[in-house]
Amino acid sequence: ADALKIGIAGLGTVGASLVRIVQERQEMLATTCGRAIEIVAVAARDRNRDRGVDLSKAAWYDNAVALASEADIDVFVELMGGAGGPAHASVKSALNRGIHVVTANKALLSAHGIELAGIAEERGALLNYEAAVAGGIPVIKALRESMTGNSISRVYGIMNGTCNYILTQMEKEGLSFEDCLKEAQRLGYAEADPAFDIEGNDTAHKLSILTSLAFGTAIAADDIYLEGITNISIEDIHAAADLGYRIKLLGVAQRTESGIEQRVHPTMVPYESVIAQVDGVTNAVAIESDILGELLMVGPGAGGNATASAVLGDIADIAKSRPGAQHVPAFGRPAAALLPYKRARMR
Ligand code: NDP
Ligand code: HSE
Repeated sequence: ADALKIGIAGLGTVGASLVRIVQERQEMLATTCGRAIEIVAVAARDRNRDRGVDLSKAAWYDNAVALASEADIDVFVELMGGAGGPAHASVKSALNRGIHVVTANKALLSAHGIELAGIAEERGALLNYEAAVAGGIPVIKALRESMTGNSISRVYGIMNGTCNYILTQMEKEGLSFEDCLKEAQRLGYAEADPAFDIEGNDTAHKLSILTSLAFGTAIAADDIYLEGITNISIEDIHAAADLGYRIKLLGVAQRTESGIEQRVHPTMVPYESVIAQVDGVTNAVAIESDILGELLMVGPGAGGNATASAVLGDIADIAKSRPGAQHVPAFGRPAAALLPYKRARMR
């Protein structure tokens, strides 16, 4: 079969890891997918930056929208970030051409996911975004595919590696909030603007996506009670520990009698629970449903390799699919069949 031609926009922490892995594992991927995966075009801002990978065989674009709208590619991989701007314009442009899209961009999906899903379906393209929620944990696949037919009552968990890393390091290493955040940035866990992590917005973006998948509704990112970890002190962490709890930043979405409730806030979690033991950059997502019961997935939530692993899985799914043989709607059901979001009454 012909090689799958991919174009990658964004060559930072995730993009550079992806390029390296695809290049190092060419043969293995060709065997597994039944066809080679070829990086034929790339885009970033600074052409002269050394990214530690060989980009000589890929066409260079300074402009991601130009790559998405002109390059001869089968898949457009968006790894730039940002809810609007070039991320939105380039993904839209690729989908409008009927080109499959893989993205790790939860801010974009939270703001425009349903619009993009609608275009993808109209144009017969796939929109895959496993890496956008909880890094390497396959939670999108679980909700979108594996759990089809289940009625889901609650989804919750630790969905931001930076915050969990900070809370863990403050408690276990006695380091200051600021030093822990700097280290999380150095390790490539944090968003370009880390306020999105520590103020809870990143968890809210992810939660809004999970809510839509879990309950079959339109995305309602504005309907989330939001509180980050910026006010959590080492004294709070120690006081919680004295009472037998650890503090975790949780995102929670649940079905109630009056509608859907979504919230993000630091939570005291009993020390003996599995979630309380999830440390560092690790994430955990729990899904409660009627047929399967309770599913708990724990794994790496951020960082170049963990995220690139999920992006690569999405690309491989496309490489393995045959035209017309596989079409998983982006949000689990056709965009036009998503239910209106109904918020729960405040309790
Ligand atoms: P980085 O900031 O490390 O990299 C961003 C890349 O995008 C850079 O290569 C940058 O170019 C490029 N870029 C930014 N703006 C433009 C533009 N206007 N035109 C062209 N290229 C542009 O981000 P990450 O790799 O950490 O994250 C990428 C995406 O993945 C984001 O959506 C993020 O939320 C998501 N994500 C990240 C995870 C992580 O652990 N880091 C985990 C899960 C998701 P240049 O290098 O030239 O500046
Ligand atoms: N900044 C995000 C985090 C990246 O720390 O979880 C993964 O989505």
